[in-house]
Amino acid sequence: MLLDILLIFHLQVLVIASSSSSEEDGSSEREAEHSKGSSHQHHWGYHDQESWLSAFEDCSGKSQSPINIDTHTVPYDPKLALLKLEGYDLTGSTTLKLINNGHTLQLSLPSSMRILRGFDHVYVAAQLHFHWGTKEVPGSEHTIDNVHYPAEIHVVHFNTKYANLAEAASKADGLAVLGGFIGIGLHDNDNYEKILSALTDISIEESDTEIPGFNVRHLLPDSLDRFYRYNGSLTTPPCFQTVSWTVFNDSIRVSRRQLADLEDTLKTEHNKLLSKNFRAQQLLHGRKVLASFHTEPATGKTKSLPTETEDSIIMESSGHILAIVFGALFAVTVLVFSVYTYQQRKKYSKFKKDSKQNVIYKPAVVDMDQTSLTVT
Ligand SMILES: *[C@@H]1O[C@H](CO)[C@@H](O)[C@H](O)[C@H]1NC(C)=O
Ligand SMILES: *[C@@H]1O[C@H](CO)[C@@H](O)[C@H](O)[C@H]1NC(C)=O
Ligand SMILES: [Zn+2]
Repeated sequence: MLLDILLIFHLQVLVIASSSSSEEDGSSEREAEHSKGSSHQHHWGYHDQESWLSAFEDCSGKSQSPINIDTHTVPYDPKLALLKLEGYDLTGSTTLKLINNGHTLQLSLPSSMRILRGFDHVYVAAQLHFHWGTKEVPGSEHTIDNVHYPAEIHVVHFNTKYANLAEAASKADGLAVLGGFIGIGLHDNDNYEKILSALTDISIEESDTEIPGFNVRHLLPDSLDRFYRYNGSLTTPPCFQTVSWTVFNDSIRVSRRQLADLEDTLKTEHNKLLSKNFRAQQLLHGRKVLASFHTEPATGKTKSLPTETEDSIIMESSGHILAIVFGALFAVTVLVFSVYTYQQRKKYSKFKKDSKQNVIYKPAVVDMDQTSLTVT
């Protein structure tokens, strides 16, 4: 994931960057020197994640990411503050640089985008990127009850008490990453299309393009209020254990075609397909994972990954069941009441000896019997 911090650093040091990012360049050099000192220039890849451990000290730490999230054991923590994002709508304001860095598809984000509330400090956005698999292998990094989603988005922010991403990346409270699961829905996702439609321009490794600004909030799930929180790491070398993770419970939908575009377009080194760029599950080592919401499954929801169709079928059928239950209750009430009324009338008519009233009420009872039969 984040990453790419390192690779971007190398790129920026080698390539003369634009004047707008001169601040980042200085820190990039420091960071590049720092990582050289500890690990030399390791050319890491996803096919050989074991080798990260020897080349990058932190990758074998005890607070690594990603992790599996067990929804049955995650406790609800009412003290978790809900997130308030600011400046995510970039419609018409700027263009954004979209990069294929050989490890991921990454969009650079302006410092006007922030997490205003949710943490002890304000965190400012730096970039977002994706992890994915293949048609056969779902490629989210985090898993829910040991199940992968097809893909995952990470929006990387750094603590405003540090000057930039590079400086923050190695500090304990340096980073806050928002993670969202991407699943398959019936329709094209127009917001994701703003990124995916530019993929063919950057299919070659280490290429980039500019795309028009849009509302980045719309790349995230509808609800940001239901999330998991834990302390973890970058999911790529150098694996710094400096990330406060927020993984949303709501997922995002893109169409099958859009997911295929993400899986099949970008190339990495030696012109190989860039796919399965997700890190293996890491152990919790006693860490806590908290939830901002009650995790007991509501109204008989299924454990399988929901799709748009399944969701709507579940909602529709529970609506029908409710209607039937209320209909039956109503019919029974009416039936009991009318039987009671009939008996009272009969009793009453015995005293009055008025045969006319019996004639009037008999057909009514027959009607009610028929009604109750239709319902059951
Ligand atoms: C993360 O670490 C900080 C600092 O040690 C701690 O205060 C916080 O409770 C931890 N968060 C979780 C979810 O464990
Ligand atoms: C969301 O939470 C519900 C309730 O705990 C759980 O069943 C479902 O698997 C969760 N989905 C994700 C993506 O976290
Ligand atoms: Zn990531």
